[in-house]
Amino acid sequence: MERFHIIGGKPLTGRVTIGGAKNAAVAIMPAALLADEPCIIDNLPYIDDVICLSNILEEVGAKVKLSNRGVAQIDGTSLRDYKAPFDMVKRLRASYYLLGVLLGKFGKAEIPLPGGCDIGARPIDQHIKGFRALGADVKIEHGIVKAEAKKLIGNEIYLDLVSVGATINIMLTAVRAEGTTTIVNAAKEPHVVDVANFLNSMGANVKGAGTDVIRIKGVERMNGCEYTIIPDQIEAGTFMMAAAATRGDVIVEDVIPKHLESITAKLLEMGAQVIEGDDYVRVRGTDRLRRVNIKTLPYPGFPTDLQQPISVLCSIAKGTSVINESLFDHRFRHAEELRRMGANIKVEDRIAIIEGVEKLSGTLVTATDLRAGAALIIAGLIAEGATEVENIHYVDRGYEKIENKLSGLGAQIRRLKDGETLLKRVNSHSLFKG
Ligand code: UD1
Repeated sequence: MERFHIIGGKPLTGRVTIGGAKNAAVAIMPAALLADEPCIIDNLPYIDDVICLSNILEEVGAKVKLSNRGVAQIDGTSLRDYKAPFDMVKRLRASYYLLGVLLGKFGKAEIPLPGGCDIGARPIDQHIKGFRALGADVKIEHGIVKAEAKKLIGNEIYLDLVSVGATINIMLTAVRAEGTTTIVNAAKEPHVVDVANFLNSMGANVKGAGTDVIRIKGVERMNGCEYTIIPDQIEAGTFMMAAAATRGDVIVEDVIPKHLESITAKLLEMGAQVIEGDDYVRVRGTDRLRRVNIKTLPYPGFPTDLQQPISVLCSIAKGTSVINESLFDHRFRHAEELRRMGANIKVEDRIAIIEGVEKLSGTLVTATDLRAGAALIIAGLIAEGATEVENIHYVDRGYEKIENKLSGLGAQIRRLKDGETLLKRVNSHSLFKG
């Protein structure tokens, strides 16, 4: 297992370019299979989730040419299978989008229940509710979701809760259903809108994405297209927080500032400076950050994916912060690792109470999921001495070359090989777990 070695204490300065949105990419890639011609997708992040998904698409018979420069050509015309391979799907949460796509394309899909980060129970009952409303018979047998429809017919679907995955998955099936589908209480995340725009570029008729009612008129045929994915809201937010935490001065480029408003608002409340340009935000952290209260919510609320990173800022802020995680059960598993670095965090159920301390100190910490990994990297950047973050395969799932981007801003971070450590040498006494 590789790990990051970080020497903390250096303010980040300079410019960083944000890549394409992971959560849009992992929906748009399978969506491309709906077309009767190849699609070219640009601004794809070259991250492990995208590479894994590209392999899954090939397994079901698609032709995928993925370059490490962020472009993929996806040709779904050769698709032969309505079943996806168990091992790969288990590794990737977003593989559930193949259910919607294959059901739309073949009227039949068999997909193992998806895996992904362990951040609590992640049911797919709302996806299934949507498929059933469109006329599919859906059952789960031996861990595999089996959906089949003689004919898909549009319907009105009211989501019991706001779900990104269910909203997108229902759109993916409904574009090929007969008549009109209405999704009520739909998710409004930027990547939901991006998927709708992509589907429309392929000839679909999706209206209302970005509001809580989406209307989809089914079409018989979908064409190929060229499409550029939006910038990643969560990667941008991570760098904004790293800039504020280290009291640096960073221009986060190639972003859509509107998508970052909830993050900007919280950083301003904490005392950081945020200046918005047309396609950049500049974040400067000067004085010690101030305490803040946060409740994670669906867009445009504060994103759950940035709850772990901002908890690091709360750890060193003046005063006591309260974070309410309203979406997932187990999204405070990083708190124990932050405590090892000196943070004062109490977690009760889905609430974290964080009493800010003057400083964190470096040690060996373990990433428990993707965004926990990002949070621990930020913690390492502000900690006294050296920090090593292990289990960084989680980070590689969602951040493209994060150590290069951070080094470009002046951070002292390097990737160590399996078994390698520099901790004992750097910190004055042994900091190993035990
Ligand atoms: C997506 C994102 C993930 C992000 C999350 C919330 C992808 C690949 N992942 O995950 O990074 O943290 O949105 O913004 O885009 N729920 C149900 N039943 C369902 C579906 C969801 O109860 O059928 C619940 C979930 O347990 C959770 C809430 O609804 O409490 C929101 O989940 P959802 O928006 O569906 O998240 P994901 O699509 O899994």
